[in-house]
Formats: sequence, C-alpha cells, structure tokens
Amino acid sequence: MSGYILSDSKTFEIFVRTEKALKNDLFPVMTKFSEDETGFIVKTAKIRLDKKDKIIEMGVGSGRVVKEFKKLGFPSYGFDNDPFFVEYCKRRGLDVFLLDATKSVSKEHKNRYKMAVISFNTLFNFPERIRAKWISHAYSLIDKGGFLVIIVYSSEKFSKSMVKERVEFYQYVLDPPNGYRVEIFDNGEEKGIHMLDGKNSVKWFSLWKNEQQIRKEVALWKGFDLLSMTPLHCKIAFGMVLQKVL
Ligand SMILES: C[S@@+](CC[C@H](N)C(=O)[O-])C[C@H]1O[C@@H](n2cnc3c(N)ncnc32)[C@H](O)[C@@H]1O
Repeated sequence: MSGYILSDSKTFEIFVRTEKALKNDLFPVMTKFSEDETGFIVKTAKIRLDKKDKIIEMGVGSGRVVKEFKKLGFPSYGFDNDPFFVEYCKRRGLDVFLLDATKSVSKEHKNRYKMAVISFNTLFNFPERIRAKWISHAYSLIDKGGFLVIIVYSSEKFSKSMVKERVEFYQYVLDPPNGYRVEIFDNGEEKGIHMLDGKNSVKWFSLWKNEQQIRKEVALWKGFDLLSMTPLHCKIAFGMVLQKVL
C-alpha cells in the first residue's frame, strides 16, 4: 500500500486538537489509552532504569510522554522531524531536537541512551520498509543492554464500538477538509484507518496488527530480543519491551 504521513504544520494542529480532546475526555477509549500507555512506559522506565540513565523518545510530537520522564527526574530527550513540534516542546522546557528517524544517527547520539521509546503506534503508521529504518535508528541510539519500548495497536482487541470511537476521534483530530475522508480498511492482511484525498490516494494511515504479525516482524529486527508484549488495560494496544543484545 502506498501512503504517507502528513508532515507539515497540519501535524501540529492535529496534536493541539489531540491534546484538547484528551484533556476534555471527548473520547473515553482514547483517553484511557493515553493514560494506560504513559503508565506502561513510565513503569517500564522505573523498573528497568537507574535515575541517571538517559531516555529518548523518537517522534516526540507535543512532548506528552517525554514530559512524564522529566517529572520523574530522568535525563530525558526527544526528537521529531517536524520543526513545529520541536519548537513547541522547547517552549514547554523539554530537551527536544530536530532529527529524522529514517536517517542515520550522528556520532554524538550513538549508544548514548539506555532507553528509546516509540509511542502512540507511531511505528505502525508507516509501511514496513520505513519501520525497518526506525528500528535501525533506535538500535544506533541505544547502548548495549538498553531497552526499546514500543506501543502498537492490536487489531484483535478492537471491538466494533471502539472502532467507531476511533474513527470519530480521527475525524476530530484530522478535521478532514472538503474532499477528504477517514475510512476503515481491512484487506484481510492489514487493518486500520486511513485518510483519503479526493483522488482516493492515501494521505495518512494507521495500521493495527495482530499479535502473530507483530511477533513475526519483531523477530526480524536484528540485535534486539523481545522481552515482553503486554496487552494494555485499554484493550486496544500492546506495550512491547525489547532489549539490545548485540
Ligand atoms: C503519532 S505521533 C506521536 C507523537 C508522540 N510520540 C505522542 O505519543 O504523543 C508521531 C510523531 O512522529 C513524528 N515523525 C514522523 N515521521 C518522523 C521521522 N521520520 N522522524 C522523526 N519524527 C517523525 C511526527 O511528526 C509526530 O510528531
């Protein structure tokens, strides 16, 4: 499937709307997801890391997750390829810089972090070849023995009413302009939601995977061992913890 993520100031507007929706609890499943997700990530850091260990979030967005690490006193960093988010996070006092997760990692960041985080199904918003680039980037950032935490939507867990709420949530955050529409797709192999433009080309998509598909792909990520894949309480996602072993 072809497709790409919106990567201009539109993404910034999306996140302002996302934060608003979560704060006002407009979408209960989403709000629960957000709480469970940050809860899982923070707990993993508390269990696995020392207070001096550095954490980095890849694709940091509004800084929603990284600010929780900062509160706990971990040296915490984030990056994004969207300058709007980088500026926004800086204004919030977060240590966030501009970097592209599909490019190679510079010397100053190599093996520097004890934990890297990819939250909010970010990885599975991309096609597999891009996912492989993010994983190789994560591998370079993390010190041997360090951890990679990934949150991924599970296609088995979504009930019909959750899917309905999720579509409404995306309609709200994406605010599709005239001619755009948000749709569920399910081609037997892949499930998810995408936004189509007037010519029916995919502008943005979010894939949900089943556990078997996820395990199969994770097994291909060289240098990492999958330590755990935990269903979150919100029932729509897994929290995965991997360790850099080579
Ligand atoms: C689904 S959002 C998640 C934001 C944040 N992690 C959260 O949980 O709220 C994905 C983020 O990845 C960023 N992103 C997309 N492609 C990227 C790339 N190639 N390199 C770095 N960041 C990227 C987007 O700008 C966006 O902020």
